[in-house]
Amino acid sequence: MTGSEVSTPADPATPLPVQAVVLVGGQGTRLRPLTLSTPKPMLPTAGLPFLQHLLSRIRSAGITDVILSTSYKASVFEEYFGDGSKLGLSIQYVTESEPLGTGGGIRNVYDSIKHDTVMVFNGDVLSGCDLGAVLRTHEENDADVTLHLVRVGDPRAYGSVPTDDEGRVTAFIEKTQDPPTDQINAGTYVFDKSIIEQIPADTAVSVERQVFPTLLRNGNRVYGYVDATYWRDMGTPEDFVRGSADLVRGIAPSPALSGHRGESLVHEGAGVAPGALLIGGTVVGRGAEIGARARLDGAVVFDGAVIEAGAVVERSIVGFGARIGPRALIRDGVIADGADIGARCELLRGARVWPGVEIPDGGIRYSTDV
Ligand code: GTP
Repeated sequence: MTGSEVSTPADPATPLPVQAVVLVGGQGTRLRPLTLSTPKPMLPTAGLPFLQHLLSRIRSAGITDVILSTSYKASVFEEYFGDGSKLGLSIQYVTESEPLGTGGGIRNVYDSIKHDTVMVFNGDVLSGCDLGAVLRTHEENDADVTLHLVRVGDPRAYGSVPTDDEGRVTAFIEKTQDPPTDQINAGTYVFDKSIIEQIPADTAVSVERQVFPTLLRNGNRVYGYVDATYWRDMGTPEDFVRGSADLVRGIAPSPALSGHRGESLVHEGAGVAPGALLIGGTVVGRGAEIGARARLDGAVVFDGAVIEAGAVVERSIVGFGARIGPRALIRDGVIADGADIGARCELLRGARVWPGVEIPDGGIRYSTDV
């Protein structure tokens, strides 16, 4: 890239000459069955579709021009965000009829790009990264691509991305038990527009596994911006529950949330009976009902769900309109929309209940008492 076009300090009043592309076309298989009805970036987190937290962060960094790269359940995004004006954004939608993967999804928006600098976001990342600093790093290095690399405590679960003394990426290393660095790809990139044009058109490609390694092999200038900020990929139920709780408690940053943040967040029209305990960043959606003496710890309760008296819900998601019966126990589980869990059932350790499924009273237990 040329010149100092993005060197302006981030000031929300002065839009940067940078376009944001947010990849939101994935099927979200790891979050099934919740994603059967709602695409992952639209799942409610701390009362808002997850994507709204990301879009607010983009807007706060001074970027107003956004392209949503959609595929799976594409219409849901436009119905909710429209032209983006309510968020101070101008949003365009570019939809793949067949999913093209993360690299193909970036290439597919090429004709809608009007700035030379493009910031690309995975649509499921919750992070406190300073986007202006990533852009400045890109400019200072005269890079073709700059990746946000975040340092994590245990990099073994991710591919790692080492850099040299100048911050230039030296390799993309697949998941291994012995990673050479704690820097991982955080799913936010700055691209020069000319590089996007080089990605093969109308072809399914992965940006992480194919596009980046190819750029490196071809001698392109690929740099990293490294930090150790809050970072979470919301792709699994465990991460989704943690990320939501962190938003509620103010541990995860989001310009979309203002005011007091505490142990729980109860939305309009929800009813919480006396003696119910809501802790650990629990969220209760609109019109949901929580019965007497129920205990919710790090629970994500979607709109219209019912948790009956004495039930316990820990680190779990309860879908739209689902019901958890009296004295049932849900721990590390996912209960999809409209499911009905009978009294005293116990669902533990990664249990997933599909939409509308009914489990009778006492129908699943881990213990022998009833
Ligand atoms: P899993 O199926 O659980 O792996 O989730 P996913 O489909 O969302 O895949 P992944 O988490 O790897 O995707 C990272 C980001 O890219 C997410 O924000 C996805 O919505 C998005 N994405 C994934 N595949 C595509 C695609 O084919 N097209 C577009 N436009 N975006 C995609």
